[in-house]
Amino acid sequence: MTKKIPVIFDTDPGIDDAMALIFLNACQRLEIKGVTTVFGNASLAQCTNNALYLCERFSIDAPVHAGADKTIMGVPKDDFPTLVHGADGLANINAAPESRQQGIEPASAFLIESAEEYANELVIIAVGRMTNLAVAIRESSEFVSNAKEVILMGGAVSVPGNVTQWAEANVFGDPEAADILFASGIPLTLVGLDVTMKTIMKEQYIQDLASRCGDAGHLLSQITPYYLNSYLGRTGVNGFACHDSSAVAHAENPEIQEMETGTLSVVLKGEQRGRTVFMKDENGEGLHSLCTGVDAPKLLKTYHEYLVRTYG
Ligand code: RIB
Ligand code: CA
Repeated sequence: MTKKIPVIFDTDPGIDDAMALIFLNACQRLEIKGVTTVFGNASLAQCTNNALYLCERFSIDAPVHAGADKTIMGVPKDDFPTLVHGADGLANINAAPESRQQGIEPASAFLIESAEEYANELVIIAVGRMTNLAVAIRESSEFVSNAKEVILMGGAVSVPGNVTQWAEANVFGDPEAADILFASGIPLTLVGLDVTMKTIMKEQYIQDLASRCGDAGHLLSQITPYYLNSYLGRTGVNGFACHDSSAVAHAENPEIQEMETGTLSVVLKGEQRGRTVFMKDENGEGLHSLCTGVDAPKLLKTYHEYLVRTYG
């Protein structure tokens, strides 16, 4: 049997983060070595609680390490997107783990040690602010050379942002952290709004899936109505974009998206703060890849099949 790819999931659960974690757990090419948490869709404490709860409920036998509760510049945050994810980050289900506890080490130390343990193999799927990665990069130059790749859900290159006209939430939430990551030298694939907005999970799709995949289906029926409702209110569409699960899908099968090679940077000042900029490299030698297209029906089919296979 082919060796699985060791993966750390860096996350701020978050409704779509939760959906991505249960999908990741169902991916046969990937092995979850740890979950690291960051503030974002809710406070760090709440996101860590939610990650522990999800790992316990779905028997994900990987340690959970808490990371940053403020930006890399030390700015705390206390206004969270409660209208999108609920006051608890998970549609107000008030999840509480019964026995799982977070690891003692901070997320950055765990990232550094894991990259050393799985040198040139470790893939970090980052679906929240990049603050934990920025801390690890600052703390260890070896982390940069040991990490194989970061697959990042974040940014908007050729489409409008979802926080400002220019900026996507995960980048806008800590642009200096994104800047540190982009400049670090770690190979990076950006799975941004350019592709995530092209894969829409409609209510009918979710309802069908929820009826076929056991307790994962029960979770979907608990958390997705709130998310659907927020999208309906904001966009008029009875469906939501497949953000964080698109990064997981890329890790499992990169061919599901079309890519271009080049160099990414982030605007730090002015009204475009948080904007991601991509300079295409015609020689194909750039360190960064940008997902520019996606086989959306295939991604939706894969998500459906994997969840039914694993939890149904
Ligand atoms: O812009 C989408 C991203 O913002 C996702 O990671 C979602 O969970 C939110 O944090
Ligand atoms: Ca997220």
